[in-house]
Amino acid sequence: MALVSMRQVLDEAAKGGYGVGAFNVNNMEQIQAIMEAARETKSPVIIQASRGARSYAQDRYLVHLMQAAVELYPEIPVVMHLDHGNGVATCKSAVEQGFTSVMMDGSLMEDGKTPSSFEYNVKVTREVVEMAHANGVTVEGEIGTLGGIEDGHGAGVSGLAHLTDPDQAVEFVKLTGVDALAIAIGTSHGAYKFTSKPTGETLKMDRLIEIHKKLPGVHLVMHGSSSVPKDLQDVINQYGGKLRPTWGVPVEEIQLGIKNGVRKINVDTDNRLAITGAIRKVFAETPEKFDPRDYMKPAREAMKKVVALRMNQFGQAGHAGDYQPLTLEEVAKRYK
Ligand code: G3H
Ligand code: 13P
Ligand code: ZN
Repeated sequence: MALVSMRQVLDEAAKGGYGVGAFNVNNMEQIQAIMEAARETKSPVIIQASRGARSYAQDRYLVHLMQAAVELYPEIPVVMHLDHGNGVATCKSAVEQGFTSVMMDGSLMEDGKTPSSFEYNVKVTREVVEMAHANGVTVEGEIGTLGGIEDGHGAGVSGLAHLTDPDQAVEFVKLTGVDALAIAIGTSHGAYKFTSKPTGETLKMDRLIEIHKKLPGVHLVMHGSSSVPKDLQDVINQYGGKLRPTWGVPVEEIQLGIKNGVRKINVDTDNRLAITGAIRKVFAETPEKFDPRDYMKPAREAMKKVVALRMNQFGQAGHAGDYQPLTLEEVAKRYK
């Protein structure tokens, strides 16, 4: 199966009332972990690479690894998505490289830190939509900004500083024609999202529901959606790590989101935690080992477990074979 359009995967998810996890990758083992989890659970997948991932791995490695994935797992529809594109040129280069979906995050300026104006956001996003749709490629936009900056991306403030305004979201979708819309409801990237289990005061699910009511036909995206489970934190700390106590987004809140229009759920941190914990364990328990396979295998297995669990929890499990993927050429014609 070739790489597929994210729009088609999300349209199908909307029909079936489920969500699809979008998992970040930087290397072969992370792609393998996702594909194995997808096979086990029979799930369609969205695999995403950030600008940092593209510079770490190089596009050609990423593209060929993704092509290997679709060749080895022909029963799984796979979307290759650019996470947090910071400008038209970044999105254009991703389309040229073969990504089937891009995020134009115009909620921030090109530095990925400074909140932008509504007008700027509309302008750059609209430009990316025109370029991408002509190629059958999906576009995710963002309105409102996430909190946090620890991974180098974000406004560097509390997740509550720039929540999405529901009326602006309606206007933004109308003016840009995006396929999917990322919204800010109090989450942040990284491990340190909340200092205690989130409540309605810190995680604004009511805001999400309000946006969904105004935009019932739009695929909503939740960023910063790692749950930061305590058991994964504990493994890291047990084997010499130093994570401060922290809380993520509870899975039941994500499931509430899925009932209210959320179709794409971004998860990176949980997998980073699983990988780090597994590697620390090998290093601590068998310090004589130095073959990278001795720690990369358990790391890959630990990530696979997390991804398979999320695929079941988000509801995408069992849906890999529901539909015949369209070619990007067919999708491009439909956009016209
Ligand atoms: O946007 C956040 C993702 O976790 C990707 O992080 O930019 O460090 O690759 P990154
Ligand atoms: P987490 O840091 O919560 O995993 O969020 C990842 C993300 O939103 C990537 O765009
Ligand atoms: Zn994000």
